[in-house]
Amino acid sequence: SGERPKEVDYSSGDRGTRVRVMGRVHRERKQKEVLFVTLRDGHGYMQCVLTGPLAKTYDALTLTRESSMMITGEMWEVPPGAHAPDNRELHADYFEIVGKAPGGDDAITNVVQAKGDVQTLLDRRHLVLRGETAASVMFVRDAVEHAFNVKYHELGYVKVSPPALVQTQVEGGSTLFDFNYYGEKAYLTQSSQLYLETAIPFAGNVYCIEKSFRAEKSLTRRHLSEYTHIEAELDFITFDDLLEHLEDIICGVLDHVLANPRTAAMLQDLNPDFQKPERPFKRMKYADAIDWLRSHDIPNEDGNPHQFGDDIAEAAERRMTDIINRPIFLTHFPVEIKAFYMQKDKADPRVTESVDCLMPGVGEIVGGSMRMDDYDELMAAYQREGMDPSPYYWYTDQRRYGTSPHGGYGLGLERFLAWLCKQHTVRDTCLYPRYMGRCKP
Ligand code: 4AD
Ligand code: MG
Repeated sequence: SGERPKEVDYSSGDRGTRVRVMGRVHRERKQKEVLFVTLRDGHGYMQCVLTGPLAKTYDALTLTRESSMMITGEMWEVPPGAHAPDNRELHADYFEIVGKAPGGDDAITNVVQAKGDVQTLLDRRHLVLRGETAASVMFVRDAVEHAFNVKYHELGYVKVSPPALVQTQVEGGSTLFDFNYYGEKAYLTQSSQLYLETAIPFAGNVYCIEKSFRAEKSLTRRHLSEYTHIEAELDFITFDDLLEHLEDIICGVLDHVLANPRTAAMLQDLNPDFQKPERPFKRMKYADAIDWLRSHDIPNEDGNPHQFGDDIAEAAERRMTDIINRPIFLTHFPVEIKAFYMQKDKADPRVTESVDCLMPGVGEIVGGSMRMDDYDELMAAYQREGMDPSPYYWYTDQRRYGTSPHGGYGLGLERFLAWLCKQHTVRDTCLYPRYMGRCKP
């Protein structure tokens, strides 16, 4: 094999280990007689150096980005000045192209990703995912999901897997996807909450990480039709316990993710200003948020000043979080604007023991509450909402067969990631996003 570039000090220890690597050409750069190939295999990047006759073969001269190849050779440690990932290089003595890629504009990398229009990039998501930014978000996503599993198990929670095909709703009829289930009407689940509640009596504290489905008819940067829902139910707790647990799980997950050098480095690239939030998170009652919005002249959806009872819509919510610029637990929403199952506040029955966790840049990432644990009260709530309780017998039985004060929440993984990785939209945190108008690739 040929001569090494002069500036490289190859006297160090790793010199000479023989390896064979397989991967895809992430980058290639010709320099005089030398061809540098950055190979990518999912675990990392490796700089490979082809010199001498090897660099002049037909395959080397026509090498294209994204082609898959196998290279054998010797590993060399190189000084930081050589700009090789992990300060090492593979000094090739043989290579084979396994699958040639077209190259040129068809090799989607970060460069193309930054230039293309949004719909084209989504159509070509399978190629965009090969770019560093999109891939980093996927790696962080994996680390975050893993960290939730680790953290829940550290806390003694049991993971269960509720069904996705159901015949009940949780969060209102307007966002249900229905389908024909052997001639019966059924839905894609909106939330596993009700099933989690029924697991409490055998498991104690429980959680699940499942898909939830919402037929959202609005195109916003934080709404998907299919998303990953991290949900937990906690037994024998108070509302304050629920809020503390939420801080604990969010901060604990961040600790795990940041303790991993690889994902910590990716996060540093994706979101250089990221700082782990300080505990305790800011707590704000809904009624105080209404006053806050009025005093900041932030109008409701109709353009009028906010009134008690109004929904705090996405735009107002995001302006609030951007101004306050730290996580907020927004609590005690009015009964009328929240779901049927939420426990009322004993001190003020107009409002519920409910919480939304809001993050800067995204707004709501968590929705949770204490659950009505009294059978008669729950039945009255079904009646108030005009819902037939009979399909829910397995849920309402919970209150007849040994009820308990309990509560829980759902966290949207994609929204958590949009906040953590500073992505403009949740669509960029999915492998293949689903939203109104898009069900491919
Ligand atoms: O606030 P939501 O609708 O609450 C529930 O579904 C409860 N049953 C959860 C529970 O208590 N177990 O949804 C919870 C979270 C939201 O805060 C948001 O992060 C996410 O789920 N979410 C969505 N994410 C992406 N696209 C959508 N269309 C979403 N709808 C909700
Ligand atoms: Mg919500």
